[in-house]
Amino acid sequence: MDIDKASFYKMIAPRPTVCVCTATPDGTPNIGPYSFVTPVSFDPPLVAVSVGRGKDTILNARDTKSFVIAPLTDGWKVEGVRTEVKLPREESEFESVGLTVEPSVRVDAPSVKESPINIECEYWGEFPSGDHILLVGEVVHISGAEDATRNGRINLEDLGGVGHVTGEEFCISRDVTVIDRE
Ligand SMILES: Cc1cc2nc3c(=O)[nH]c(=O)nc-3n(C[C@H](O)[C@H](O)[C@H](O)COP(=O)(O)O)c2cc1C
Repeated sequence: MDIDKASFYKMIAPRPTVCVCTATPDGTPNIGPYSFVTPVSFDPPLVAVSVGRGKDTILNARDTKSFVIAPLTDGWKVEGVRTEVKLPREESEFESVGLTVEPSVRVDAPSVKESPINIECEYWGEFPSGDHILLVGEVVHISGAEDATRNGRINLEDLGGVGHVTGEEFCISRDVTVIDRE
């Protein structure tokens, strides 16, 4: 069986899903869901998000030099996905979906109060990638709720990680399986 090559990203699934928070130069908060996202370096700690050209996220990150990644979890998955709503750049998606802006510790971009984890990033660079732009940030701070971690990593068992399959299909991950790496 041949599979349509345009479906490649649907074969790499579920993809970790996050909300990326930014702000306009005059301080209007912005938030949107993204699943083309991956760590790219330990030292320095770098994370990349592939953003469609012209989206508010890349415009704001470029202009204000910061963004925040909030990994989507079961408790706020509906609100998080609905931040996809397309609003003018000067209007915030936070209130329209019922999420709350939390000031970040190290960057101007806002954090999400409802998110157990907020990863604050300084703009590190951007790289054209086909019809997207790979936005790379250096992690400068992570804020976590009381039970956000287990064994030093995200507490998937309690929080439930949200993975995107395609369209409106998602996976909730709570099972952690140990595989002996020898
Ligand atoms: C679960 C999910 C994942 C998404 N992943 C991406 C992505 O990785 N890259 C992208 O450009 N758009 C992605 N989108 C679409 C954007 O969220 C959408 O275009 C949004 O309006 C962009 O917001 P912004 O203009 O405020 O940045 C995704 C949408 C959903 C619902």
